[in-house]
Amino acid sequence: MSDVLKLSKMNGMDAMDGEPRPHNLTIRTRRNAEYDVVEVRISDSGKGIAKGALTSIFDAFVTTKPQGTGLGLPIARTILESYGGDIWAENRQRGAVFSFTLPLTRMQAE
Ligand SMILES: Nc1ncnc2c1ncn2[C@@H]1O[C@H](COP(=O)(O)OP(=O)(O)OP(=O)(O)O)[C@@H](O)[C@H]1O
Ligand SMILES: [Mg+2]
Repeated sequence: MSDVLKLSKMNGMDAMDGEPRPHNLTIRTRRNAEYDVVEVRISDSGKGIAKGALTSIFDAFVTTKPQGTGLGLPIARTILESYGGDIWAENRQRGAVFSFTLPLTRMQAE
């Protein structure tokens, strides 16, 4: 799970590179008792996600970076889904926010 956090932080840093300051990267964690999940939100004050790309960025090899693999987010999603979690992206007034959830109760092996 630390891999998911690490690559989300890297993405946030990349998105703020060259953007006006202040640069803010915030990670908030909370328990949502209603759904029995932990929610983690990583928000940045970067350039935001291109319109229409909020879901396609989770597909393999989708990248806007010259040296990018476009594999970070699809890997994150695969990891989270294997634990019964989820990940999604939204734009904020300035920047992007990635939210992910993980169930607190361990799922039964199938
Ligand atoms: N925080 C963010 N703000 C704006 N766009 C983002 C953010 N995170 C991801 N993206 C967009 O999603 C694309 C895919 O991200 P992903 O992590 O899968 O690959 P990458 O970052 O391009 O490559 P790599 O992870 O190998 O450096 C990025 O190229 C970028 O366009
Ligand atoms: Mg990345």
